[in-house]
Amino acid sequence: MDAISALHNRISVNLLDSPAPTKDQLDNIFKAGLRACDHKNLRPWKFLLIQGDARHAFGKLMASVKEKSSPAGECSEELKTKLLSKPLRAPTIITVVADIKVHDKVPEIEQILSAGAAAQMMMTAAFAQGLGAIWRSGSMMFETTMQEGLGLTKDQKIIGFLYIGQIKACKKVPDLKVSDFVEVWGSN
Ligand SMILES: Cc1cc2nc3c(=O)[nH]c(=O)nc-3n(C[C@H](O)[C@H](O)[C@H](O)COP(=O)(O)O)c2cc1C
Repeated sequence: MDAISALHNRISVNLLDSPAPTKDQLDNIFKAGLRACDHKNLRPWKFLLIQGDARHAFGKLMASVKEKSSPAGECSEELKTKLLSKPLRAPTIITVVADIKVHDKVPEIEQILSAGAAAQMMMTAAFAQGLGAIWRSGSMMFETTMQEGLGLTKDQKIIGFLYIGQIKACKKVPDLKVSDFVEVWGSN
């Protein structure tokens, strides 16, 4: 697929199946992330690859983070069971992290944007290779217990979880009009 087709037609896929992307497909995804725009080349990114049985450990982490962050008695057994299976919705999950460096010219927001750009590049690279992917988040990703459970430091902020696999079902690309979003400024 050529670059413009991938950029114009990328779509999120929430119904994903096995098998996991191949090693070559994953390498292509990570390499795309490494080409995100990056002020002062700080490389403010880290990617955690979660696959196979590690998804069960990630589900357990989700359930424990939810329990710890909920008011006493408000995290039901039913919810915890549901969270245990959330990571099983895809064979592969990539946690995209902004690895924030101290820099006098590049504030934290720019580094977070750069990590977000890396995530988007990776989404497009997955799509361009015929894979399905969806970027997921949730309030739990802002919890310190989630950060610690994933082995991150306080300067490493979670940007999102990219669920990647084979496409089970796909929606249509929405027909958005460029003119609804673009204004020629300064012409009067
Ligand atoms: C930062 C961020 C967080 C998101 N979190 C979720 C999420 O937790 N669950 C979800 O279903 N979609 C989430 N989305 C939206 C989907 O990834 C997707 O972009 C949206 O459903 C629109 O579909 P499209 O990408 O095919 O246009 C998130 C998107 C972004 C950019």
